[in-house]
This record gives sequence, C-alpha cells and structure tokens, in this order.
Amino acid sequence: MSNKVFLVTGGNKGIGNAIVRQLASAGHTLYLGARNVEAGQQAAAELQSVGDVRFVHLDLNDTQSQLTAVEHIKADTGYLDGLINNAGIITDYSTAATVTVENLSTTFTTNLFSTIAVTQQMLPLLRAGEHKAIVNLSTGLGSITQHGDPSWPFHSTVPMAYNASKAALNMFTVLLAKELRAEGFRVNSVSPGWIATDLGGQDAPGTAEEGAQIAVETALKGADGPTGLFLTSGGVIPW
Ligand SMILES: NC(=O)c1ccc[n+]([C@@H]2O[C@H](COP(=O)([O-])OP(=O)(O)OC[C@H]3O[C@@H](n4cnc5c(N)ncnc54)[C@H](OP(=O)(O)O)[C@@H]3O)[C@@H](O)[C@H]2O)c1
Repeated sequence: MSNKVFLVTGGNKGIGNAIVRQLASAGHTLYLGARNVEAGQQAAAELQSVGDVRFVHLDLNDTQSQLTAVEHIKADTGYLDGLINNAGIITDYSTAATVTVENLSTTFTTNLFSTIAVTQQMLPLLRAGEHKAIVNLSTGLGSITQHGDPSWPFHSTVPMAYNASKAALNMFTVLLAKELRAEGFRVNSVSPGWIATDLGGQDAPGTAEEGAQIAVETALKGADGPTGLFLTSGGVIPW
C-alpha cells in the first residue's frame, strides 16, 4: 500500500488520537489537527515513535485557523489523500421538549457548520491528492430509523442537539458523496460504537482503539470502496 497523507481533526485525544495512531503505524503521513496548541503538539510528539505525525493547529470554529491550516499543509505536502472529520462535541443532554436554541446553536456550530466549512476549505488539497476519501464521524444516535425502533438499545438516549447535529451531518455525507462521486471521491459517515472517551463517558464498553477501526478501514478503502453510506463495524446503519 502506498503512503497516503491524511488530516484528522480533533486528533489530540480520544477516538481521533487512536485514528492518527493506527494510520501512522500503517505507514501513512498524518496531520494531527487540534485546537489546543500545547495538547496537539504533545500528542503529535508522543506519536513520533509510531510514524510520521505532524501537528497542525485547527480550531474548527475559527475561520482564520482553517485558512492557516490549509496554507500550512499546502506548503508542506501540497495535498491530502483523506480528511477524517472526527472533532465533535456533546454539551448537554436536553431533550426535544427542553433543549435551548443556544445549546442547539453551539452543538450545530461545531458538529455541522464548522465541519462543513473545514471540508470545503480542504477540498482543493483533497482534489490534488489521488486517494480522495472523506470520513465523517457520526453516531448511531443520529439514525432517525433506529430512534423509531423501541427495541433498539439506545432508544432512550435522546440528547436533542447532539443527535440532530449528527443526523444533519449524515445528510452532508450523502449530498457531498453524490456531488463528488464523478471526481472519484468516497464520502462516508461512520459510527465508532459507544466508546470510553471524555465524550462517551467512562462506562462505555469500547476503547478508543476499537472505535477508531471503522474510520481507519473506511478511510483506506480504494476507488472501488463504498460512498454515501453510514458504516459501523457490523455493516451499514440505516439513516
Ligand atoms: N465516544 C463515543 O461513544 C462516540 C460515539 C459515537 C460517535 N462519536 C464521535 O466520535 C468523535 C470523537 O469523539 P470522542 O469520543 O473521541 O470525543 P473526545 O474524546 O471528547 O474528543 C473530541 C475531540 O474533538 C475536539 N474538538 C471539539 N471541538 C473542537 C473544535 N471546535 N475544533 C477542533 N477540535 C475540536 C476535541 O478537542 P479538545 O481536546 O480541545 O476539546 C477533541 O480532540 C466525535 O465526533 C463524536 O461525536 C463518539
């Protein structure tokens, strides 16, 4: 397998950090994006023993940071083979009847609006690369179909802002996949499962390394790989 160049957002900890580790240890070049410079530099330094890991400052919600990151990568490798939109937040567990517009706005800003903006900023670099993979970290909690099934184990997990932001991210996946298909892109949503991280909480059964696997596998799939799908380790999740 030839060396590929990937950018992972939110690579300083959790699932993003494990994605960086797994791709770097497979011989690929990784840009580890992080909004916190100190945490990002430290995470990249810790992964130097694993492979070629390069810190890039990237705060999703800061347009200047997006532009600087693009310029940095352009001047360094000049292209990206893949973008893994991993960074995400859950700020509260308010339900549909109680969520505030402020919470909706905060969550949608990071999980959807800024993720779309970063993707658009990175498109010229991705178009310059040969591999052309975009992977969006979604969640089974964003599946409208699964929420309609009372026997689904997570049926009562109903944080409105988070779930809706990921359902909307899934729509971005589907529409971007359609739009970029003719250029050879593969754009997919993946669900890592319930994973023990700061976001997932420490009661979760999965490790970050396990959660990273579906994103890594999907990012590495070649030209005949899937596009416009919602994937997890067990197969396809219904929208
Ligand atoms: N854990 C689960 O059970 C689970 C399940 C389904 C889906 N997911 C998804 O998997 C992804 C990773 O989650 P995780 O569990 O690894 O969470 P995590 O440990 O809390 O890590 C989240 C990462 O996103 C970064 N981030 C948040 N806002 C950012 C911003 N504005 N700009 C740049 N980076 C930002 C964080 O940076 P800081 O360190 O600076 O905060 C951190 O690096 C998320 O998209 C999440 O929705 C997780």
